[in-house]
Parts: sequence; structure tokens; C-alpha cells
Amino acid sequence: MTQEAHVTQGPLTTEAGAPVADNQNSETAGVGGPVLVQDQLLLEKLAHFNRERIPERVVHARGAGAYGTFTLTRDVSRWTRAKFLSEVGKETGTFLRFSTVAGNLGSADAVRDPRGWALKFYTEEGNYDLVGNNTPVFFIKDAIKFPDFIHTQKRDPYTGSQEADNVWDFWGLSPESTHQVTWLFGDRGIPASYRHMNGYGSHTFQWNNEAGEVFWVKYHFKTDQGIKNLTQAEANRLAGEDPDSHQRDLRESIERGDFPSWTVQVQVMPAAEAAEYRFNPFDLTKVWPHEDYPPIEIGKLELNRNPENVFAEVEQSIFSPAHFVPGIGPSPDKMLQGRLFGYGDAHRYRVGINADHLPVNRPHATEARTHSRDGALYDGRHKGAKNYEPNSFGGPHQTDRPLWQPVSLTGGTGNHAAPVHREDNDFVQAGTLYRLYSDDEKARLVENLAGFIAKVSRDDIAERAINNFRQADGDFGKRLDAAVQALRG
Ligand code: HEM
Repeated sequence: MTQEAHVTQGPLTTEAGAPVADNQNSETAGVGGPVLVQDQLLLEKLAHFNRERIPERVVHARGAGAYGTFTLTRDVSRWTRAKFLSEVGKETGTFLRFSTVAGNLGSADAVRDPRGWALKFYTEEGNYDLVGNNTPVFFIKDAIKFPDFIHTQKRDPYTGSQEADNVWDFWGLSPESTHQVTWLFGDRGIPASYRHMNGYGSHTFQWNNEAGEVFWVKYHFKTDQGIKNLTQAEANRLAGEDPDSHQRDLRESIERGDFPSWTVQVQVMPAAEAAEYRFNPFDLTKVWPHEDYPPIEIGKLELNRNPENVFAEVEQSIFSPAHFVPGIGPSPDKMLQGRLFGYGDAHRYRVGINADHLPVNRPHATEARTHSRDGALYDGRHKGAKNYEPNSFGGPHQTDRPLWQPVSLTGGTGNHAAPVHREDNDFVQAGTLYRLYSDDEKARLVENLAGFIAKVSRDDIAERAINNFRQADGDFGKRLDAAVQALRG
């Protein structure tokens, strides 16, 4: 759909639909006199303009989105009873919003930052949202640290800028971040476009089948366009020359019919294997190595339609990790558990209590049947139906079948750290990742990290940060130390 297709016909009107005689000159008391309050068009325009913005997302403010289709290519019914995953060849409508994390709404696309991968499946059993990133892991593993972490990525309260001190102070004091930081400062830390990167559900989720058996799964979306990245120097230039580079690339590729696609894979762990697995399978700072659980191809995701209105469909789109459908549920991952609260709360604040009713957000393949009512901008969709349950008037009623299966637990309540498995520590997978990089990529990784660490104001902050990489791999630490020393003099 192009912009020309949206030109509306007929005379200009006020918001109430009355024709407008003059949209160039406001009404004055005499020629050259003051403006009259009776010029309702002027007042309406100025007042509406003042209210054009809603709060930007507190993270992932900068983004672009597109509609598409998910097609199932493998029978997965032995692992999940989700209907949209029930039949090979079945197609489900989707909306995917890509984003950066730290920058504000108007910031540049070509920056070193994880990319958000927020994917909504409009299934016949309700919307299923997978709110992941282009990285399989994350910086921290407990939601209670998230606000602190994000404060270090955003603007400092005094300087108003992102500060190397805050970033490296937090990462140095949070050794569990070492794996994700080793990833972020490697080549994939700045994708060339949204089309040339993978997406990941990142967390572990529960799938359960008709028989009630439980499996733990991780989602991978492998780009069919091939991975393409920018070097730091290329990104610095592009961010200045074309801040909208990724957004434009996505829109233009869809406009010319060059639809980007991803091959969808899952790793599947039978529930009984979780307790004895060598890594805590619910620790978001860890991957499940492919030799343990090989990725299984299950489908194809294609993006094929641009939104018609960016504000309505992208800015007001909402995604929640708590939006599950029958056959899919959460895992005990402590980060995921925090996110189950965080997003709905953000939507109510940012878009409003009826955000779920907007065209981009509401179910497309079924309808929402709730007893919730009213609130700002309620559209009266329930007409005169009863607004309570149980009722004797044929209203919607509960199914008595939970979406997911219970998880067995032992022990008392408490501020417990996530359990540590046989091979778990904060550095082991960062070291493995470092050793997987080619010599050239190792050199770029060290250069990228050193350039940023060298900016901190205190030696102890720099040393603590370097020490995390040293513990991941001795060679990594040695090279980084030397590179930082060379820059700091
Ligand atoms: C406890 C940890 C986290 C909290 C509390 C949190 C909170 C939030 C909030 C409040 C938003 C803005 C939502 C909105 O205004 O619509 C957001 C956006 C987002 N978050 Fe998180 N987040 C967390 C961790 C993560 C992780 C681990 C990932 C990826 C694996 C992630 C991916 C995203 C994405 C992709 C968006 C943008 C969604 C969109 O496009 O609308 N977040 N997060």
C-alpha cells in the first residue's frame, strides 16, 4: 500500500465533521486585531497538536514493524496442543516490531545495541506474543535488576547522556552479563538491517501436549537473507547520514515485493531432563548448546505488508510475554516471570486501558470475550451484554482447562538466587563464545570493547570490567587489558 492510496476526498472539516472555510487565516477582531475565542478550528487544532504524543516505550522506544505470515512446516503436535501449531501448512497472521533498546524514539538505527524482536501471532485461540531479541541470551537473570540495568544504558541523571562509567560499573559488578556483552561487542552487535539478523525467543518456554506432557522449548528465527553486519566505523557513518536506515530498509524491501523471511526452529527439552541438565535451563544468560538439543525446523515466517499508519500500528502496538495460548506457557525463568507483569502494566500506562482493542493489538482470528468494560476510549463493543460471570444469560464462561501445566516445587519462600547446575558459572559460555570467534572477529571484539572501556573515569571500574572477560578466557582478558592500557596511556 502506498501513500497515494490514502488521499481522502471532499472538503476539509473540523473534528466534528463541519466544513472548514479557511485553514490559512485564523479569525481576528478586525484586520490586524487579536484572535477570537470563537475560532474553534484554531483552538481545536492547537489543542489536538499538544496531545499528539504518548509516552515513548521506556525501553525499545525506537522501532519499525510489519505484518506477515507464519507457516507451519512440521508436525509439532507431540509437543504442543497450540492450534496454530497443529497442522503442517497452516498459516497464521503476524505482526513483528523490531527495535533498538536504549535509544529514544528519534535515535539512529545503526547503533551497537541488541535489537528487539516482538512477534505477535494472531491465532484462533487468541494472540500469542513472543517478545524476544536478536540475541539468544541477556545481560542479567533476575527481573529485580532490570530497572537498575536499564538506568545504566539510558541517560545519566546529571549529564543527560549515556555514560561509560555507568555502563561498565554495572556490567563489571554483574558478572552474569559477560556472555551477552561478549556477544554484543562481536560482529553481530550492529546488524546491517532488521532483515539480516536472527530473532530469538531467548527465554525458555513451556509447551504441553494433549496428554498433558511438558516440554521446555527455545525459539530461533534464522534469517533467510543471510547475516550481515556493520563495523563500528560503518555504523558511525550511517547513523549520521541516515538515522532511519533500518526502518527505511524494511519498508522499502516490502514495498518492492522483496519479502524478508526467517526459518523458524525450536530446541525441545523433555521436562524430565531439566533438573539434571548441565546448565540451568531457565537461566537467560545461558544458551542450550546445539549438540545437547539440536534446533528442529518447524516453520517459515515472512513479512509481506507494511503498516498504513506508523503511529496507530507501530507506536501503539503492544506485546506482552504474558500473552500465551493453550499449549504454551511460561517457565520458572526469573526474568520471564518479572516480564509477565511489566508489559501489561506498561501498556496500561503508555497506551491506555483499552490498548488491546486497537486494530493492531486485538485478536484477528478470534474475538476477545471478557467481562471487563468501559475505561478511557471504550468503544462499546459489548453492546448490552451482561458484564459479570457466572451469569444465566449465555455470556462467555471459563473453560476449566489451564493453558499450561503446573510445575512441581519444593522449599520455602525467600529471595533465592536461580539454582546453579553442574557446569554453571557466569563465565563459561562467554569463554566458549570467544573461542568460537575467528581471529579477525576476536580482534574487532577487543577493539570495540577497549574503545568503550577506555572511556571510564576510574581505573577500578575498568579493571573490574576487564576481569570478567579474563575469567571467561585468559587470552581474551590479556588482549583486552593491553588494548585498554594502550588507549588510557
Ligand atoms: C525483567 C526484565 C524486563 C523488563 C521488566 C522489561 C520491560 C519492558 C518494558 C516495560 C517495555 C516497554 C513495553 C511497552 O511500552 O509497550 C519493554 C519492551 C521490550 N522488551 Fe523488555 N523487559 C525486560 C527484559 C527483556 C528481555 C529479556 C527481552 C528479550 C529477550 C526484552 C525484549 C523487549 C522488546 C522486544 C520490547 C519492545 C516491544 C515492542 O516492540 O513493543 N525485554 N520491555
